[in-house]
Amino acid sequence: MRTKIVAGNWKMNNDLAETQTLIEQLIQQGDFSNKRVMIAPTAVHLSAAKSALSASKIEVVAQNMHQAEAGAYTGEISGKMLKGIDVNTVILGHSERRAYFGETDAILEEKVAAALKQDIEVIFCFGEELEDRKAGNHFEVVASQIKNALFALDAAALKHIILAYEPVWAIGTGETASPEQAQEMHAFIRNLLAEKYGEATAQATSILYGGSVKPNNAQEIFSKADVDGGLIGGASLKAEDFFAIVKSL
Ligand code: 13P
Repeated sequence: MRTKIVAGNWKMNNDLAETQTLIEQLIQQGDFSNKRVMIAPTAVHLSAAKSALSASKIEVVAQNMHQAEAGAYTGEISGKMLKGIDVNTVILGHSERRAYFGETDAILEEKVAAALKQDIEVIFCFGEELEDRKAGNHFEVVASQIKNALFALDAAALKHIILAYEPVWAIGTGETASPEQAQEMHAFIRNLLAEKYGEATAQATSILYGGSVKPNNAQEIFSKADVDGGLIGGASLKAEDFFAIVKSL
């Protein structure tokens, strides 16, 4: 059975006090079983979040990392640095990184390899823009994003990858993909994995949906056969909403 996952991507939100308050509120929401729950605060607060959650099952993940092991890359963070504070999962390929920070498929391929080398699990994000979907190119775009960044990996390495389909037109817009659109794309992705890696690997890979997931639509999206959880932006900034989504899975 595939692992069910809800991850909150806090993006560039919350100062330290807000981070601590939100974490306390998350802890108060209570326990959960049979799924993984993660939060991704800004890198500046990863250590504080790790300490605050040391007795909790909620995992702390990073939003990004650099592809080099070390060196003259002012302002960047390496996989080794993440590993050094016991952060074992990183989000890579988010559409905001692709759009605003020039992250290409080729860079992402390097970042994924660098993370895996440090034994860091990857939540790999991808998704089409509105014009791709309007033009009917969405399957092609998603397939090329996945193939270009991941298909050099072997099946053993792919076990350390969680996929996150985030259609760009649904991120922060309030417009979510319909449960049918999500399922259609997730089934397509699983089939792509099956063709490359075989059915067993495809069936074992968790594929999350992200893009305007809220307490009132999470259950329907999560009910779809190939949707294994969610990557949550805005709604992860409120403990009650985030846990309502966690409970929907
Ligand atoms: P929203 O849930 O705010 O649409 O953001 C989704 C996202 O980008 C998660 O990584």
